[in-house]
Amino acid sequence: MDVIVERDEAACGRVVADVFDRAVRSGATTLGLATGSSPLSVYRELIRRHREEGLSFAAVRAFLLDEYVGLPVGHPQSYAQVIRTEFADHVDLGGVFGPDGGSSDLSSAAAAYDALVVSSGPVDVQLLGIGANGHIGFNEPGSPLDSRTRVTTLTSQTRQDNARFFAGVDEVPHRVITQGLGTISSARHLVLIATGERKAAAIAAALGGPVTPECPASVLQLHPRVTVVVDEGAAVGLDRIGV
Ligand code: GLP
Repeated sequence: MDVIVERDEAACGRVVADVFDRAVRSGATTLGLATGSSPLSVYRELIRRHREEGLSFAAVRAFLLDEYVGLPVGHPQSYAQVIRTEFADHVDLGGVFGPDGGSSDLSSAAAAYDALVVSSGPVDVQLLGIGANGHIGFNEPGSPLDSRTRVTTLTSQTRQDNARFFAGVDEVPHRVITQGLGTISSARHLVLIATGERKAAAIAAALGGPVTPECPASVLQLHPRVTVVVDEGAAVGLDRIGV
């Protein structure tokens, strides 16, 4: 596992953008995208490179990690919409796919999305953020390390954490569809970005703690190709564990 510590969020974004830039210019056609605030510096930098440096995503199909259940199509906080606003509308992606959180048969929609990711993959580079409780995608503590895409329920901590994107915590959906930890792990290269001291405990547990469903991001320790990019705040716990 490569762990890179940078001074601030913008520098982290540039380092992660370098990984995506290199992959795309050398022929990657399948990328995994994440939402939340952590990847925004990456998207800003990739958009800049698209505009100023000729970085083209025309041959790339992108796959989202997760989606809220029940938000109307086009809701500004649905992840399909967030990825358009923050990234896809500004570049020339060949396609963007995500789980259908509006389906009347959510289990089938989850299984269909898992099958799509598998048949389109392996994902060349998968971008990940991390929740304060160690979740990746929406795999909350207790998620099996080999889990597949499924409907699941958010913890109250994650709903509180994500309330800032909504009018209030009551507006945050309880249920989501998320790629499972097994699905995510099938990508060739996992790239996790985390910034700020609020993520330090989760980063220390993910990288240096036991590999356990209680810390879903600890599944990274089982993967052959992982790059973790953190700022100094998110790195504060790493010295203690010798990473
Ligand atoms: C959400 C997303 C995750 C993301 C996490 C962290 O719950 N489903 O993919 O990594 O939040 O969010 P943020 O980057 O905003 O702290």
